[in-house]
Amino acid sequence: VKNIEKMINVNDYAEQAQVVLPPEIWNYLDGGAEDEWSRANNNNAFNKYKLLPRILNDVQERSLTTTVLGTDITTPMLLAPTSPLRLMHEEAEIAQVKAADSLGTVAICSMDSHYDLEYLAKSGGENLWFQLYCYGSRNYMKEVISRVNRANYKALVITVDAFYPPRRERMMRSGFVLPSNVEMGNLTNLEVTPENRRNDGSVKRFALTWSDLQWIREATSLPIVIKGIMHEEDAAKAVDLGVDALVVSNHGGRQLDQVPSTIDSLSSIVRRIEGRAEVLLVGGIMRGTDVLKALALGAKAVLLGRSYVYGLVVDGQNGVEHVYNILRDEIDNALTQMGVSNIADLNSSSIIYDKQ
Ligand SMILES: Cc1cc2nc3c(=O)[nH]c(=O)nc-3n(C[C@H](O)[C@H](O)[C@H](O)COP(=O)(O)O)c2cc1C
Repeated sequence: VKNIEKMINVNDYAEQAQVVLPPEIWNYLDGGAEDEWSRANNNNAFNKYKLLPRILNDVQERSLTTTVLGTDITTPMLLAPTSPLRLMHEEAEIAQVKAADSLGTVAICSMDSHYDLEYLAKSGGENLWFQLYCYGSRNYMKEVISRVNRANYKALVITVDAFYPPRRERMMRSGFVLPSNVEMGNLTNLEVTPENRRNDGSVKRFALTWSDLQWIREATSLPIVIKGIMHEEDAAKAVDLGVDALVVSNHGGRQLDQVPSTIDSLSSIVRRIEGRAEVLLVGGIMRGTDVLKALALGAKAVLLGRSYVYGLVVDGQNGVEHVYNILRDEIDNALTQMGVSNIADLNSSSIIYDKQ
């Protein structure tokens, strides 16, 4: 592994992760659906927005702190659910939850983790959220939710854009199959029949509909977050049904190709919600300036996906923390250059949309 001091931006970690990983796992991590336009849009769209610096402000002291669903975080970046992290590094999700704890942010633990949710809750700090995918039956999932309730998670995130298997061509070509050392720690007591197993070895998810929010709401008193919103009508509907936060997400371009970037989708959703729920964004964050743009357009915070996983691949928990700290330094530097002392002061006057 390259000397860690030489890693000065997230892209350095991406390049190194590609060197370290077997090609089929790199393709699983980095790839998207079909022609990967959605994935590329997420990254490229940030360049259409330009930051507008202000002059002569006193920015000697700066604040990057904020809250998400009432929890204080040191920097407006959470660690997204990504799975199975055991493919990426021995430490798997343990690195994710421990890094979040030492960085003072929230880690969102995926239902598809190698380690079970109780073990992760014990290994991490106080700021863990749990992300649900649904397997087996409603009754099985009610039991999972009651385990989440008992295990000290602070919010329940329902990912709604990945019920159906996508067409990820890079993976199809490399014949990706889940290796046998990767477990599904939260599914160990689920009876898996040939009918609910997919060709790649994974277990079929069952799809939720709007009416399912009712029993999920009744199964927990935790705040509910919907991850995978791209349409303002859906955002409004979710908020009408009492959802506490939304994550604008196209699943990193891994599910449906030819959708807009999340940064382009953010403003209309923020306007529509009128502050009735917190809005978070995930997709393509590789720079501190990307984070500032999302905040200026109304996101409360962003989630990091692949970027922290590149760090995990290269150096476990250390790598996750280093990636996060690089982005934090970039945010702090960009904020200073912009003449803004507090991230809360970023707003629509801090940014322009540049059509060309
Ligand atoms: C390898 C990998 C695994 C993922 N697994 C999950 C998951 O288990 N649950 C989930 O809600 N999203 C999952 N996602 C989506 C991420 O949470 C995130 O929305 C996406 O990667 C976009 O962010 P990015 O562009 O920063 O990577 C996964 C993404 C990747 C790259």
